[in-house]
Amino acid sequence: MAVGIFDSGLGGLTVYDAVSKRLPDVPLVYFGDNAHAPYGVRDADDIYDLTTKSVERLWDAGCDLVILACNTASAAALRRMQESFLPENKRVLGVFVPLIEALTERRWGDNSPPREVAVKHVALFATPATVSSRAFQRELAFRAIGVDVEAQACGGVVDAIEDGDVILAEALVRSHVDALKRKMPHPEAAILGCTHYPWMEEAFQAALGEDVKVYSQANLVADSLGDYLRRHPTMIGSGTDSMFLTTGDPARVSDRATQFLRRKVEFIAA
Ligand code: DGL
Repeated sequence: MAVGIFDSGLGGLTVYDAVSKRLPDVPLVYFGDNAHAPYGVRDADDIYDLTTKSVERLWDAGCDLVILACNTASAAALRRMQESFLPENKRVLGVFVPLIEALTERRWGDNSPPREVAVKHVALFATPATVSSRAFQRELAFRAIGVDVEAQACGGVVDAIEDGDVILAEALVRSHVDALKRKMPHPEAAILGCTHYPWMEEAFQAALGEDVKVYSQANLVADSLGDYLRRHPTMIGSGTDSMFLTTGDPARVSDRATQFLRRKVEFIAA
């Protein structure tokens, strides 16, 4: 039994961490496509090709259910994968919907028409590919009306995190928050729309100010996966071993992951 968790690199470990705490008995196979990160500067076809290849590797590891713990892949590839790539017995879930359900205070499966919600001014921080896809705004429009979303494409932040350069990542976060605030001076809520960004959550919160509610995905996705597995217990695949796979240099990726998760993590070559 194993569930796959995929990201272009280290960001999905924020989701992995939350899922492993929420569902300690479910074996998890993590796949980081570090050799090809960042995805956020690639075009949609490229992201689709890389994502499908990575998901196939997770199927080989016994995962029938794969979480795309990557907003960029969820934005650029998920719908196409669901329409034309997935066999009957496999499922791929993205990370947008649990976040938007939390923002719009909806329960899972509430398909009622879009309605007014409490927040009116929302800042979205994401990769250039996620921002240009407008996938977040599209999903939000199914559920809420009257919400003004200002998006900031946060170039460079994923690269800095992948390189383990926290000081650069923090400086970039401050400058992206400044740029956002020039367009929307008083957001009520901020969405960290990239799974790498929770590693920099304190920097986002400090730059935004304490009165801005910051939404990040890890716990929301873990809760929603718990819910999904309760409803679809057979989707826990045939694999029984937890492992960390990377297309990058396993020693280097293991060092970075150990630094972020603050416990020993050993990646092996995918
Ligand atoms: N963690 C990915 C996301 O959530 C990062 C994308 C990238 O590699 O640029 O979007």
